[in-house]
Amino acid sequence: MDASPAPPLRTALAAQLAGSVIAYALIELVYPDLFALPLAAALLQGACAALVSHRLGAAKWWLLIHFGFLPAALWLTRAGIPAHWYLVGFCLLLAIFWRTDVSQVPLYLSNAKTAAALAALLPPGPARVADLGCGDGGLLRRLAQARPDCRFEGVEHAPATWLWARLRNLGRRNVAIRYGDFWSSSLGEFDVVYAFLSPVPMPRLMAKAAAEMRAGSLLVANSFAVPGVSPERVIEVADRRRTRLFCYRPGPK
Ligand SMILES: C[S@@+](CC[C@H](N)C(=O)[O-])C[C@H]1O[C@@H](n2cnc3c(N)ncnc32)[C@H](O)[C@@H]1O
Repeated sequence: MDASPAPPLRTALAAQLAGSVIAYALIELVYPDLFALPLAAALLQGACAALVSHRLGAAKWWLLIHFGFLPAALWLTRAGIPAHWYLVGFCLLLAIFWRTDVSQVPLYLSNAKTAAALAALLPPGPARVADLGCGDGGLLRRLAQARPDCRFEGVEHAPATWLWARLRNLGRRNVAIRYGDFWSSSLGEFDVVYAFLSPVPMPRLMAKAAAEMRAGSLLVANSFAVPGVSPERVIEVADRRRTRLFCYRPGPK
């Protein structure tokens, strides 16, 4: 039996549809005059959709999205924004965040203190370092400045974010930014692999790292530990969000 959770977009669609049906039925049966007050009806639909989403086990932040979605859509249609701007907005968000619904990895960036803590974990001599999902390439830029003797490679699948990372690292000879999916890249050539992702891909990442990384190579997971695997050590970064770096040696012992 497949125990994996339903894709978030499917759950969201189900919550919106079910919320609409429930709200419609409630208004029809209890207070039909509400049809004359579209914003109030939309708020009721939002509340019903949020409730359904909660019942379907969606993460908490979805509740707010469901509650606000139809009221916000209604408000925007009244704002008279030309239709093509919605398409432009959608394309822009897609280019920056790509298929977050599939990867379940959003875009947030490692800060300077985390980069310094990671730099301190690098081997003393020349090494190859990968950032899986390198975002805007800022982390690699900092590491490359700190360690000109090492080679850094970032992989990013969101087109605009990848371009941003490339431009930020133009002219930096020890940084390469590749466009693509890190699941299809081999981890075998790296001494250190850094991953700042989300809880969802961590078990799969550990399986990939264990199959591909060499003995003694280091996997550093920012914030999200691999469930059921004890890290070799945990670094506590002295930043505001109290970042923790989980260090693993997944290769052959
Ligand atoms: C949390 S951000 C981390 C960015 C950067 N590593 C840092 O620490 O500043 C995760 C990034 O991984 C990218 N990403 C997620 N899944 C990916 C995949 N399968 N292949 C390539 N990039 C991916 C996302 O687009 C996002 O930019």
